[in-house]
Amino acid sequence: MEYLNAPTLSLVIFSLAICSSTSAMHSMHSSSGPNKGAYWPSWSIDFPPSAIDTTLFTHVYYAFLSPNNVTFKFEIDYPTALSLKNFTTTLHKKKPSIKTLFSIGGAVEGPKIFSRMALGHDSRKRFILSTIEVARKFDFDGVDLDWEFPETPIDMVNFHHLLHEWRVAVKKEARSTDRPQLLLSAATYFKPEVTLDDVYRKYPVASINKNLDWINAMCYDYRGSWDRTATGAQAALYDPHSNVSTSYGLQSWIKAKLQREKLVMGLPLYGRTWQLKDPSLYGIGAPAVDVGPGIEGQMSYVDVEKFNAQNNAMVVFDLSTVSVYSVAGTSWIGYDDVRSVKLKIEYARTLEIGGYFFWAVNGDQDWKISRQASETWIV
Ligand SMILES: *[C@@H]1O[C@H](CO)[C@@H](O)[C@H](O)[C@H]1NC(C)=O
Ligand SMILES: *[C@@H]1O[C@H](CO)[C@@H](O)[C@H](O)[C@H]1NC(C)=O
Ligand SMILES: *[C@@H]1O[C@H](CO)[C@@H](O)[C@H](O)[C@H]1NC(C)=O
Repeated sequence: MEYLNAPTLSLVIFSLAICSSTSAMHSMHSSSGPNKGAYWPSWSIDFPPSAIDTTLFTHVYYAFLSPNNVTFKFEIDYPTALSLKNFTTTLHKKKPSIKTLFSIGGAVEGPKIFSRMALGHDSRKRFILSTIEVARKFDFDGVDLDWEFPETPIDMVNFHHLLHEWRVAVKKEARSTDRPQLLLSAATYFKPEVTLDDVYRKYPVASINKNLDWINAMCYDYRGSWDRTATGAQAALYDPHSNVSTSYGLQSWIKAKLQREKLVMGLPLYGRTWQLKDPSLYGIGAPAVDVGPGIEGQMSYVDVEKFNAQNNAMVVFDLSTVSVYSVAGTSWIGYDDVRSVKLKIEYARTLEIGGYFFWAVNGDQDWKISRQASETWIV
């Protein structure tokens, strides 16, 4: 039922608002309002950091960096160094209180490198020290890990070791430099229990509570190009027929005892497309024969709106999933709009979780969805 190794995009999240009981210095941003995050894809040449409307976000993630796959240290070439520096300088100038994080990994990088890095104490240590060095060198406020996804129970144990040692290291660094502790977040699967490729594993929730400032739960990519036989709501809030939904994912994290304020809900600023088998059968779950328009069946929200206008598409709001789809001939696109995002955020508020984030910031149309999201969650 579940999607296999979706080539998902990744996210990150940050949340202030934590404070484990442990010691002082631990992200002391006691309830400072919702975490409103967005990932910035560093390859989006036509959308520089200066284009980001920083009034709408509290946290922005630079996506992505990867360490060297042998040393597990970051090797930053000159163009990347300029890009990193430009990102933090531009955003902090626009809005001094904004938190910038660089995000490590992502869907394209995949899980293997992190599995190998997290396996041993020495490789974890090299990686951790290198993340701190990069963060400080380029003036980031924190680091976000997008390990998509730990593949085995052993990976999950090592993920715990990594988080523990990472927190110890950033605490120590903050003490010795007299600077605020770097924020630590991770993008995760939409729920704490993962069964992909028939392997069951569960995130180390206690360790997350203790060591991370928040997690960005990737509440999307539930359906996509890996199953071309039927249309689907890739980020359904509810699913009457399965547990693959945002409500199930968020509630599962809470049931697993993740601290609510550390849970940040993912929202997609992109849709997923299919080609219908029969244009007269167009509901969610309708038979399909292939992916539809876009790149590998994906299209940013701004392009969906363009496509709908150009093709005079029929747009349907589906209340049972809290999602939208548009149909033009045999082209079918499932996505989130202003209305579905508003309802999801209202839902998230009733759960009293930490906030939300978008993948990706350049997908919005005239800030419509990002603005609606921000206005829906004003404390
Ligand atoms: C590391 O990366 C290099 C260059 O991309 C690649 O050739 C090599 O196979 C990788 N090694 C491992 C262990 O993945
Ligand atoms: C960042 O890059 C943009 C071009 O993409 C440039 O206009 C701007 O001056 C740079 N900002 C900083 C602070 O370097
Ligand atoms: C959904 O999850 C619940 C418990 O977590 C389980 O009892 C139920 O069988 C699941 N439903 C489906 C359709 O898998």
